[in-house]
Amino acid sequence: TRTQVAVVGAGPAGLMLSHLLARAGIDSVAIDLRTRREIEETHRAGILEQDSVDLLVDTGVSDRVHRDGYRHDGIELAFGGASHRIDFRGLVGASTQLYPQTDVFVDLADARARDGGDVRFGVRDVAVDGLATTPAVRFTDADGADHEVRADFLVGADGSRSLCRRQVPEAARRQYFREYPFAWFGILAEAPPSAPELIYNHSARGFALISQRTESLQRMYFQCDPDEVADAWSDDRIWDELQGRLSANGHVLKEGPIISRTVLPFRSFVQEPMHHGRLVLAGDAAHTVPPTGAKGLNLALADVRVLAEELERAVDADDPARLATYSERALGRVWKAQHFSYWMTTMLHTLPDASPFDVRRQEGELSGLVASTAGSTYLAEAYTGWPGGR
Ligand code: DHB
Repeated sequence: TRTQVAVVGAGPAGLMLSHLLARAGIDSVAIDLRTRREIEETHRAGILEQDSVDLLVDTGVSDRVHRDGYRHDGIELAFGGASHRIDFRGLVGASTQLYPQTDVFVDLADARARDGGDVRFGVRDVAVDGLATTPAVRFTDADGADHEVRADFLVGADGSRSLCRRQVPEAARRQYFREYPFAWFGILAEAPPSAPELIYNHSARGFALISQRTESLQRMYFQCDPDEVADAWSDDRIWDELQGRLSANGHVLKEGPIISRTVLPFRSFVQEPMHHGRLVLAGDAAHTVPPTGAKGLNLALADVRVLAEELERAVDADDPARLATYSERALGRVWKAQHFSYWMTTMLHTLPDASPFDVRRQEGELSGLVASTAGSTYLAEAYTGWPGGR
């Protein structure tokens, strides 16, 4: 088979890209090792920036994001015995939308199916080559048939364990890493919301985040050891831990049966540049952020919005130089989001080896932030997303 753009990875980044390319008259084939069902059942974050919502709505992917999502005009920062609201609307005139990544994926997969897009889930034995000249992807499909797809350009949107990323020779790329000495214990609970907005809660027992899904389903996380075993925790023990952290700042959680529990790793990662020959990387394949602040999906969507533009020109003129332009444009936002995610993480979590000075300094940072319009405005601006796709 021959196509214009081969896309490895059919998560939100890969599917959004193939959708945008199709609108520009460019055909693509997207493949993924996971089945559609496996992707749908992997819980990820739930907060969309305004630009992400607009991209989904304006390009005809989803009107459900408005109907089934919830607009949030601010967040609560809880620490030092009290809770402080950061008013996004008042500070920067923007909001976020609570709408889970799994729903974004479902909307995108439905849109590709509706428009006759070529998407193959559940493939195996993926191999890529010819990056410098004529890229090719080989794979075995879910029915056991072998395929070779030749393309003008190859997109690696294949997530944090990217195979495509590893095709770039060491001499041609640089990798930046940061590890954190903690993880998140994430749960889904059948209960009503405990507060109108999300609560980012700092306490001596560790960080906790109270998020939501619907009127009857809630998403919560608490800082834990990276080696924690999720199944070793009973419902009672989880609620004790969460209530203990939240009560320090005057919040009481509404409890209910816990229907899912997982430990999420924490990492910051970037590979530069985001292109090599006729290969480009997008989303988690090129960069991972720690979850605090929910930037992962938003960054992936921002990548592919720029990438679709540059690929249109690259395909028209058969000019791979456009991929370098994409990388430069995308990395500006990537590093702003890396800083924001790192900053939210280190400001709010309890560091295992913190000295008394570190602890008091962190409290000073949080009080200074909520007392300052300038400080709060930076948080609001970054959280709701830097406008204009930049
Ligand atoms: C969610 C996850 C986040 O990392 C965050 O900062 C906010 C919300 C969520 O899953 O709802």
